[in-house]
Amino acid sequence: MERTLVELLAAKRDGLMLAEAEIRHLITSFSEGALADYQMAAFLMAVFFRGLDDAETVALTEAMLHSGSVLDLAGVLGTKVDKHSTGGVGDKVSICLAPLVAACGVPVPMVSGRGLGHTGGTLDKLEAIPGFRTDMSTKDFARIVGEIGTCMIGQTKDIAPADKRIYALRDVTATVESIPLIVASILSKKLAEGIDGLVLDVKVGRGAFMKDEKRARELADKLVRVGTRAGKKVVAVLTRMDSPLGRTVGNANETREALEVLHGKGPADLVECTLVLGAEMLVLGGKAKDTTEARSVLRAAIASGAAVRVMEKMVAAQGGDAKVVADPSRLEVAKEIVEVRAPRAGFVSGIDALAVGLTGVAMGAGRTRADQKVDPAVGIELDAKPGDAVQVGQVVARLFVRSRSAADALVERISGAFSYDDVAPAPADLVIDRLSL
Ligand code: URA
Repeated sequence: MERTLVELLAAKRDGLMLAEAEIRHLITSFSEGALADYQMAAFLMAVFFRGLDDAETVALTEAMLHSGSVLDLAGVLGTKVDKHSTGGVGDKVSICLAPLVAACGVPVPMVSGRGLGHTGGTLDKLEAIPGFRTDMSTKDFARIVGEIGTCMIGQTKDIAPADKRIYALRDVTATVESIPLIVASILSKKLAEGIDGLVLDVKVGRGAFMKDEKRARELADKLVRVGTRAGKKVVAVLTRMDSPLGRTVGNANETREALEVLHGKGPADLVECTLVLGAEMLVLGGKAKDTTEARSVLRAAIASGAAVRVMEKMVAAQGGDAKVVADPSRLEVAKEIVEVRAPRAGFVSGIDALAVGLTGVAMGAGRTRADQKVDPAVGIELDAKPGDAVQVGQVVARLFVRSRSAADALVERISGAFSYDDVAPAPADLVIDRLSL
């Protein structure tokens, strides 16, 4: 005999396994209003304590995915591959990665998010380009991916609507941290893009969603297993996020920096992160036999200008001023510059990514509530990075602000994010590990 909805909640509360059809029934009932918010909240808490095995997590992912529509990219030739990052400070990789990978022949349909809390969002950064629209229809999205190779938009209301409601409940019931719930949330939205493959950048450290490596590894492992069982080619890379990625934190300034990468410039850690993830995408997309070959294909697409050309076409197709691609300095940054100086000589031993991210939010570059607007022009530039030798009084960071009224407090916060030592810190590799099945 079929179990009732309340019996399904009781079964998970008691640590029993639910069948695929039972999980589908719970999500469908929730979408249709037969399962109330407070009952879903009870289910989420039961999952928080009892967990979900891989089969249950696949069922939850697919039920959430099918609560909305899956984009039809059947008309786009090739193996479509996207990247998802669990979020970090200064993480502007998507902006250079999508056109770069597309320039190498792998279509990249990318649905991105907005910044919230200390981490920024790709959509906010892209919208610093005058005229750039991220609210394209799914029809235009599919057309642009087909014609240009990539398009970057925001989540539409048709993409996994159950996830949106469930996430709002998790936020107020202290159940965000459950790994199977995170996995189903991330994958349901990504699978809705109509992709064949997915590269996950699971960030670890001070500025990451997962602060410790054990939990990040658990998340990466489950993302790979569940995504693969859901029929996709999935690779996860664990990367370090103790200090900000690159030298900029903000919106216009981060987009500038990402564009520099397409011109063969940009800071070493940002270039490396882009190449590592891009190489995995090219291998999944069948355009390189291994990551060594893939890295030279990526470098060639930068050197030939092919990646810049794809970016120009994408920006134009999305209504933006494509001239900023050739000349990133056209992107407006705030005119008032406040300098932060080293209090001592020595080596920069660390820059606390969380503190820098939160300072960016305080300056107006980010938001603490989903309905807030961000200021595209304000931001932080790091003139020194971990490992750099500095003299006393040397400028280590600059803040680009609209007015100097809160400058002292901001300087204090950014100064406090830097730590120094007499000896250079041991260099830490960006990539901690790579996981695939
Ligand atoms: N990002 C998501 O999209 N969902 C989560 O649950 C956590 C991070």
